[in-house]
Amino acid sequence: MTMWKPLLEDGTPRYVAIADAIARDLAAGVLTEGTRLPTHRDLADTLGVTVGTVSRGYAEAERRGLTVGEVGRGTFVRTASEPEDFGWRVAAQEGVSKGVIDMSLACPWVPPDGEEGLLLAETLRDVAKSRTLDELVTYHPSSGLPRHRAAAAEWLGRLGLDVTPDRVVVTNGAQHAMVVILGALLRPGDTVVTAELSYPGFKSVAQMLGLKLRGVAMDGQGIRADALDELCGQASPQALYCVPSIQNPTGATMSEQRRRDIAEVARKHGLIVIEDQIHVSMGPERIPPIAAFAPERTLHITTLSKWATFGLRIGFIAAPERAVERIRSGVRSTLWMPAPLMTEVAVRWITDGTAERLAKKKLDELDARHELVREILGHHRVDMHRGSLHVWVHLPEPLRSDEFVAQARQRGVLVAGAEAFAVGRDVPHAVRVSLAQVPHREEVRRALEILADILDGASTACVQIV
Ligand SMILES: Cc1ncc(COP(=O)(O)O)c(C=O)c1O
Repeated sequence: MTMWKPLLEDGTPRYVAIADAIARDLAAGVLTEGTRLPTHRDLADTLGVTVGTVSRGYAEAERRGLTVGEVGRGTFVRTASEPEDFGWRVAAQEGVSKGVIDMSLACPWVPPDGEEGLLLAETLRDVAKSRTLDELVTYHPSSGLPRHRAAAAEWLGRLGLDVTPDRVVVTNGAQHAMVVILGALLRPGDTVVTAELSYPGFKSVAQMLGLKLRGVAMDGQGIRADALDELCGQASPQALYCVPSIQNPTGATMSEQRRRDIAEVARKHGLIVIEDQIHVSMGPERIPPIAAFAPERTLHITTLSKWATFGLRIGFIAAPERAVERIRSGVRSTLWMPAPLMTEVAVRWITDGTAERLAKKKLDELDARHELVREILGHHRVDMHRGSLHVWVHLPEPLRSDEFVAQARQRGVLVAGAEAFAVGRDVPHAVRVSLAQVPHREEVRRALEILADILDGASTACVQIV
């Protein structure tokens, strides 16, 4: 461990000055790659600041990609060989060691009974015996086989979207759909508006493609239509990205009226609407999508990831007629065509009811986990929505998001701080806690109890100060 003693510049908050000093000393060669930094306590003593300030400083340095924290080992200066990640590090994905409960990613629940693997084996055996094999081993149109697109259109119809098969394009999941849409329809330097707290995977694609992002104010239903209208007047964006049902990270869900209002604002300003309906596929929501109110401009994304099996990597874009050819060409440019074998499995699962059954099983487990949240965190401010893979926890004074992440991490629980989702500089004091990532419910209980303990400690500290 280094005896590093940074010089903190005046005029900036102390935690920012710590991160600045790491950047400066790294550039000057005072700190070298891979060096372990002093413990939070040691640096706090050296600098005469609180341990919380050092935790925030290290968290800020990690956010900037200067350092990596490893549970139980400390904070290390990042090595140059670690590639640019386009803002992908949500919480503390690196260095997840044994015994740590990772609730930092919005993963779906994979039942530990192995059922999904067995189902996959069974379907692959059926496919192997079928007459479709020849079709699956050759190149075919980039938007997917006509019968696959027809099955997807039928399925989307059941989810409330009236779409013809020629407007459906198969993708490798929702993430790939975003790359295709943004890459095919926008140009570097274009502006996309999105919720002021938004899915980091979307932010990373926008960054990779050189797009500008602007955050729109939200309320309990997600993006506010009046705020969108105002921002469009100022920033003249080309597109809007939104998650109307079970927004990531807040879980906010738009009413039908809000979707109509957003559609109207989009039409007024000529916006392309990218509607990510990742959680609706087979979740409990059945509110018509924005695409139902603005079909001429909405690219509607669905996926099997969250409610069937994310390993299949299959999703669908329902595109307006005039955009379909460019979207197809986007698929061709990125991967020629999604693997037909995986699409075959996905289509069999949505047509024979397997996907729906898996979704029901996942929803039942999520319901039980939401109940645990009510029991353990019920006395704190927590936003949750039925079917949400995660909850959004508002932190009591004086806790800040990065401090809470650091404290939880020290106690073996990983959660995602608000910073990862912020579009713009306003970062609320809140964290996203994923409920479905760990296989066993007991682990969720243990983690929630640790989080409650940190929250309760903060509330008590606050009361004492008052
Ligand atoms: C809002 C949102 N969109 C898209 C994705 C990626 O989905 P897929 O696995 O289908 O690529 C995620 C994953 O967490 C997400 O939360």
